[in-house]
Amino acid sequence: MKAVTLHRDQVYSGSLVLVNARHPLRQTITPEQIRPLEYKTTSKHPAVYLDTQRESEHFQVCLERKTALVLETLLASIGSGSSLVPVSGFRTREEQEEIYASSLKEHGKDFTESYVASPGHSEHETGLAIDLALNQEPIDFLRPYLPRDGICGRFRSKAASYGFVERYQEGKEVFTGIAPEPWHFRYVGLPHASIMNTHGFCLEEYLDYLREFPYEGRHLQVHVENKSFELFYKKAEEEETRLTLPGYLPFQVSGDNREGFIFTLWR
Ligand code: DAL
Ligand code: ZN
Repeated sequence: MKAVTLHRDQVYSGSLVLVNARHPLRQTITPEQIRPLEYKTTSKHPAVYLDTQRESEHFQVCLERKTALVLETLLASIGSGSSLVPVSGFRTREEQEEIYASSLKEHGKDFTESYVASPGHSEHETGLAIDLALNQEPIDFLRPYLPRDGICGRFRSKAASYGFVERYQEGKEVFTGIAPEPWHFRYVGLPHASIMNTHGFCLEEYLDYLREFPYEGRHLQVHVENKSFELFYKKAEEEETRLTLPGYLPFQVSGDNREGFIFTLWR
């Protein structure tokens, strides 16, 4: 057996963190944890929308390092070439403030509350979210066009097997607080993206579902992409959370940015 100790702060980081109107970002990603996406595109970048990024030719879309690597691998696997454009990835708090304020001015309150998360509550601030567009002018920075057919359909059909989910789907507004955004993908990793798709869960629903499989009780066993996984939830203690795991199994742990941890064991 191996002993694992987690500190309270770890609840606020990891690929499964829930960031929405009710759950603000609690831990800011460091500059070392992000990197530019290596992806050439012929399009004029719409990030000219941001005052801080006026020189669009120098604009780079950044993501959390692992998310960047997995997205590059996914895009290469579908041979997207320059037909898909990464429109917006990691945003600083200041950039989110700027986007929110510009949107309010340009489109008003209803639109902004539907399509732009309040600063401090945006998944883009985690580095785990990417907005994609079909490379077709003009590209709308706030609502990029990413249809369901052609190369975009190929991206969608492979996204879950790489750990990405369409985060704001129609019918889930009551949970997410955000209007449908078919262009916004969120990295949650495997096997989570596949389980979410199978059950039709948005992240809010999925994290509630995982609480039904506590460390102390029956764990969730799943078979995804020819691999077997065991998942469970552990509520965080005030300071340190201690538990023991089978010593021979590789595992990952993510905070949920609420009050606990999700453990993923490779069986
Ligand atoms: N468009 C998403 C909701 C954001 O602003 O984070
Ligand atoms: Zn987005």
